[in-house]
This record gives sequence, structure tokens and C-alpha cells, in this order.
Amino acid sequence: MTCFDGAASVGGGREGCQIVPARESKNAAKAAFIEARSVRKSFDGVPVLDGVSMRVSGSETVSILGPSGCGKSTLMNIITGLIPADGGDICFAGRIGYMQQKDMLLPWKTIMANVTLPRIIGGADRREAEAEASPYFEMFGIEGYENKYPRELSGGMRRRASFLSAFLISGDVMLLDEPFGALDSITRGRMQRWLIDVKRKVGVAIMLITHDVEEAILLSDRVYLMSDKPSRVRDEIEVDFFADEKSRRLLSPEFMEYKKRILDSL
Ligand SMILES: Nc1ncnc2c1ncn2[C@@H]1O[C@H](COP(=O)(O)OP(=O)(O)O)[C@@H](O)[C@H]1O
Ligand SMILES: [Mg+2]
Repeated sequence: MTCFDGAASVGGGREGCQIVPARESKNAAKAAFIEARSVRKSFDGVPVLDGVSMRVSGSETVSILGPSGCGKSTLMNIITGLIPADGGDICFAGRIGYMQQKDMLLPWKTIMANVTLPRIIGGADRREAEAEASPYFEMFGIEGYENKYPRELSGGMRRRASFLSAFLISGDVMLLDEPFGALDSITRGRMQRWLIDVKRKVGVAIMLITHDVEEAILLSDRVYLMSDKPSRVRDEIEVDFFADEKSRRLLSPEFMEYKKRILDSL
């Protein structure tokens, strides 16, 4: 089944979800998107995802907001092909990068070696990968730390290094699983503003998981609210105020209106 012209990956209907192994479509030049349709997944007979559909495209930022354990990470693992679904379809165009919930930096490798590792595993030459990564260290706020080890960086800097690593292999669509979840609130606020800024410069599509209502409103163009497991999309909310100046959202009256709307819906 071909569900879109330009989609690289389609599922196999009722028999299960089939995903191409490389998370890169041949149509990277086309408008990038990911679409999950009616994705179902059980673990040991316990249903977790009960027909979840969502999409992200172009340069929008979409948040997935839902209670702990409802299957948010599972959905991203399915989208990126790490685990199979029981049913549904995943369609995408473009290159997908994935920053997982836990810190994947290897403690015995330098930041440069960590950041370029996925590119090198993907077949890139080490020098080429380093030359490609170098100019981004400044934008990602970790310049001067190329030869340091993860333990020498703050939590926020480690997250930015992970983000850069995922960005270098994606370029089109980024999946971020609770990117700022483990950070203190001051660092978290700085990282959110930083993400808005970097996003404007690099123009990727972002799908991010959060359990923080305010973070979802601040960063998103759209928010998917998920129910408890077996989970479905309970609501989809367009967030369309200060779309081009998201950092102004926090102090605006609309912010509280959206917060109330989301809390009422959860
Ligand atoms: N590999 C696995 N084996 C068994 N159960 C799992 C596995 N991965 C996730 N689960 C279960 O699926 C549910 C959803 O997990 P997860 O996707 O991590 O939730 P979230 O990211 O929304 O907090 C949880 O109940 C979790 O225990
Ligand atoms: Mg999770």
C-alpha cells in the first residue's frame, strides 16, 4: 500500500505495521513529514497504544502531552523503527533524527566523538563528520567543549550535545523525547528559549514529548493530548498566538487561556 506520493514507509494494514529499516526516505527534498495512523501496540497482552494517529510536517513543532506510562516513548520507538507496532501505518518523507529520553552520550568518548558517532555509524568518514559538525557547536552553545567528556558538561549542555547529534543525522524531522525533562527549572527555561531560537535558524519539523503543559504551549504549533493507556489521542489543539515569536507567549493573556483549555481537556 502506498499512502502518499513520496512516502518512504507504509504499514501493512491489518497484518501489522511494516517500516523500512533506514529512517531516510528517497524523497528528502520533498516537504518532510511523519504521519502515524491508527498505531496499536500491546506489551505482554496489555494494550498500550489503542489506535494513535498524529502527524508533523514542514517546519512545525508539535507536542505530545500525556500522563506517564501512556505510551509516548513507545510511539516514538515505533515511528523510528526501533520496535514493531501490532497494527497501523507509519508514513514519512525526509530524514528523521531521534533524541531519546535518556542521555545516550558515551562517557568515555569526547563530545565531538559522541556528536559525530551516529553519522560515522551511518557510514560517514570521521573527518568529514567532524568538519560538518564543527560549525554547529556555537549555535548549540557547546563551542570550546569539543574535546571534553560528558561528565565535564552541565545537564543543559549534555542535552544540547545530544540534540546536535540527532540534528546532524536528521536535518528534516526531529523527534525529541522529553528533551528537558531532567533539568532544573532555570536551565529548562533557558533551553526552551534556546530551542525556539535554533528552530528558527534550522527550520526542521519537531515532534516532542513533554508532560509539562506550559512547555507544550510555549513551544508548539499544535498539541496532541493523549489519554491514559490504552491510549488514544484525546484532543488536538492548535496553538496559534505569537506563532513567530513564541518566547513572547509566556507573558501573554492567551497563555493562560490555552493552559486552562488543556487542563480542562486532560
Ligand atoms: N519493552 C517493554 N516491555 C514491556 N512493557 C513495556 C515496554 N516498554 C514500555 N512498556 C510499558 O508500556 C507503557 C508505556 O511506556 P512508555 O512508552 O515508556 O510510556 P511514556 O513514555 O508515556 O511514559 C508502560 O506501562 C510501560 O511499562
Ligand atoms: Mg517516556
